Amino acid sequence: MKPVLEILEQRISNTLAKVSGLPNCPAVVRMATDPKFGDYQVNGVMAAAKQLKTNPRQFAQKLVAELKLDDICQTPEIAGPGFINLRLTPEFLAQSLMDIHRDANLGIEKKPNPQTVVVDYSGPNIAKQMHVGHLRSTIIGDCICRMLECLGHNVIRQNHIGDWGTQFGMLVQYLYQKAAAATNGSNPAAIEKALQNIHIADLEEFYQQAKKRDDGDEAFRTAARQRVVELHSGQNPLTLTLWRQIVSESRKHYQPIYQALHITLKADDERGESFYADKLESVVKQLQDNSLAVESDGAVCVFPEGFTNKEGAPLPFIIQKSDGAFLYATTDLAAMRFRLKDLHANRIIYVTDARQALHFKMLFAVAKMAGWADDSIKLEHVTFGTMLGTDGKPFKTRTGGTVKLAELLGEAIQRARDVVEQKNSELPEEKKAQIAAAVGIGAVKYSDYSNNRDSDYIFSFDKMLAMDGNTAPYMQYAYARIKSIERKAQDKDVDVQAELSAIAQIALTDPAEIDLAKHLIRYGQSIQNAAVECRPNYLTNYLYELSGAFSRFYNACPVLQTEGSIRAARLLLCDLTARTIRHGMSQLLGIDVPEQM
Ligand code: ARG
Repeated sequence: MKPVLEILEQRISNTLAKVSGLPNCPAVVRMATDPKFGDYQVNGVMAAAKQLKTNPRQFAQKLVAELKLDDICQTPEIAGPGFINLRLTPEFLAQSLMDIHRDANLGIEKKPNPQTVVVDYSGPNIAKQMHVGHLRSTIIGDCICRMLECLGHNVIRQNHIGDWGTQFGMLVQYLYQKAAAATNGSNPAAIEKALQNIHIADLEEFYQQAKKRDDGDEAFRTAARQRVVELHSGQNPLTLTLWRQIVSESRKHYQPIYQALHITLKADDERGESFYADKLESVVKQLQDNSLAVESDGAVCVFPEGFTNKEGAPLPFIIQKSDGAFLYATTDLAAMRFRLKDLHANRIIYVTDARQALHFKMLFAVAKMAGWADDSIKLEHVTFGTMLGTDGKPFKTRTGGTVKLAELLGEAIQRARDVVEQKNSELPEEKKAQIAAAVGIGAVKYSDYSNNRDSDYIFSFDKMLAMDGNTAPYMQYAYARIKSIERKAQDKDVDVQAELSAIAQIALTDPAEIDLAKHLIRYGQSIQNAAVECRPNYLTNYLYELSGAFSRFYNACPVLQTEGSIRAARLLLCDLTARTIRHGMSQLLGIDVPEQM
């Protein structure tokens, strides 16, 4: 189903072109800001009248006389200097609901010209535990992927993990010494074996230790450097084995977190920095050959136009240091080239916090200078603000440490569990655990999604677990309540499924029914809006408003106490609302909605 907004835009623009004789004159249809004036508003008349040097109200009248919209709207009304207000007819709404009812995809239109979109998100750093800073990239990126896929785009997820760099020389050497000490020697086979027994419970701790040793111990430092060389050249198989061990141990840290959060990243989506290690030299060479990269203070740099420092001097995008080492930027250039040339991306979305804004701006500029991306390619940095504690300062543990994601999620589930225990202590254990996980994890995710991602936001368990307001438990409860109507119907021997499938046509008469229908038919549009701007909060807002419209409907319109076609229409409204909430929550936000709360 095409969104109504699009149908109206197209039809009115066509008529506008005919009436005005102007070739390029869009109707500019928007959602009405106040339902008092209708559902949609045509804003393009004034611009057309200005070009024609004619009175806009009179021109609006001429346009309205030619418009053929009676299959969708009531008679258009002209308002103010030349706006046209449109109100959908109950018949159109009823027909649209029937179309959605019969469509397994809830009337969401798949794009006729799908794009290949690379979404780069999560990207945890190996040998460090995931902390709250990785939460936002991981869940926002995942929602973007789900929305784009739902609209029919070809989405390629990329987990750009930090698995390469000099710090791994240190770590490998540290691990080697630890294993060697455990085996009293340095026989590679014995070390490999010992490694399997060394339980890397806390790689982060190892990392701290390794750094300390690197600072104070000359021999260690030299050996660690040698490990970096070996990593790059692949000379020493034991070095590579140790490195792989570190990466795979880290993966064991983040995989269960992805699972708990319902993140759709798969092992195949992981293309970490190491993947690009053998492509960095050729990136630098290509940019040098094109005279884009030049030497500056011994380093190799690109100076994209328009980037200057505080003193007004050109800002370098450094791609190779004077000691020959490559940087984060070089890897990102290699990844960019790979995604454009090998993955054939039309759009690339990077999801990281706002502090990397300059890096990505410069990266995009260099990719354009290199001719890898022309103007048809959309390169986007989707940024987000900081998670704050209830004190308004960056979120930290009581002792000031970074909050480990695993612990945070555990606490959310525990708190949800306490609530379930209070409200529904008679439920079987297994059910309680299920609901607690759905509510706890759902609350953390939803509260993040429901904020404008550009802003910092306060992380508060109390707020996100509240049963009222725009929260996960509220939405989950709204869903369970609709489901309970169905259960009550069964008790009254109403076969809801049979009744729903027997419906051939419905009539909407009550204002609350009509209002709910207007919300329901906007679902596809709201996904589109959210996907274009990569803003999950558009979707949570929509779902919240939908459940508000449902509440008003349910208060005004009895369902099971009625009969015949009225009951059928109302059951249909209940069913479509439940399906929409479930789809939005579980398919697009990755949040479970239990049938019962
Ligand atoms: N590992 C990086 C970090 O923790 C995120 C990677 C983002 N993606 C990229 N292509 N640079 O900041």
